[in-house]
Amino acid sequence: MIYRMFQCIVNIKDIVSVPYFTVKTEQLRKYDMSLKADFLGTANKKGEKKMSIAEQFAALGVVPVVVLNDVKDAEPLADALVKGGLPCAEVTFRTDAAEESIRIMAQKYPDMLVGAGTVLTIEQVDRAVNAGAKFIVSPGFDPEVVDYCIEKQIPIFPGIITPSEAAQAVKRGLKVVKFFPAEQFGGVATIKAMAAPYTTLKFMPTGGVSLKNLKDYLSCDKILCCGGSWMVKGDLVKAGEFDKIAQMAKEAVELAKEIRG
Ligand code: 3PG
Repeated sequence: MIYRMFQCIVNIKDIVSVPYFTVKTEQLRKYDMSLKADFLGTANKKGEKKMSIAEQFAALGVVPVVVLNDVKDAEPLADALVKGGLPCAEVTFRTDAAEESIRIMAQKYPDMLVGAGTVLTIEQVDRAVNAGAKFIVSPGFDPEVVDYCIEKQIPIFPGIITPSEAAQAVKRGLKVVKFFPAEQFGGVATIKAMAAPYTTLKFMPTGGVSLKNLKDYLSCDKILCCGGSWMVKGDLVKAGEFDKIAQMAKEAVELAKEIRG
């Protein structure tokens, strides 16, 4: 009897219940450490600090959200973003061209921060990472996708919109989440309110962000950076207006720097 009571206590202590499934506390600690490592960056053998993905996002202030319909546009688009001083792209898995576009961008511009967006399945995570994606973004909080990325130590920025989802992210040790669709769900005011109880979380609002409201977002210290497609709009890409894209990327990154000081 005493042995069974002891076993019961051990089991309760070792298992943390989350609504979708249960994970061992030991696993959570591992998750927390891996993500903390990403958030803080790591030092290389020479002791030089390598910026984490989150730090690179913060330094740029803006993450271009890209929808590419044709792989031929991948290289000129990457070139335009690099020329504009915004060497970063979240290439969304909304088109068949996404995987190959990530591969091209990552190969031609190895220093560019290329990741995959609109990732909905673990199969897409694998395809994106094999193609060279350095980070994964998803529009919503899918525990299967999030936990798979955490297990594989792949930087993941899942979308959330409610405190319940924020709780899921915090429970897993995530430090940064996407807030999507930002404008439609109350923008900065909602982020500020939600950040109050979840003090460790930083947000990447995306959806409806533009040059017009970038200052409102980036002035909030709970916001790491903003995602947006305004500088890489599909019609500009289709028309081959890469100089214009470079110019708009430059404007975006300069405004972000001005706001952040
Ligand atoms: C996204 O995919 O994250 C958003 O659709 C981008 O939103 P925007 O086009 O309003 O910037």
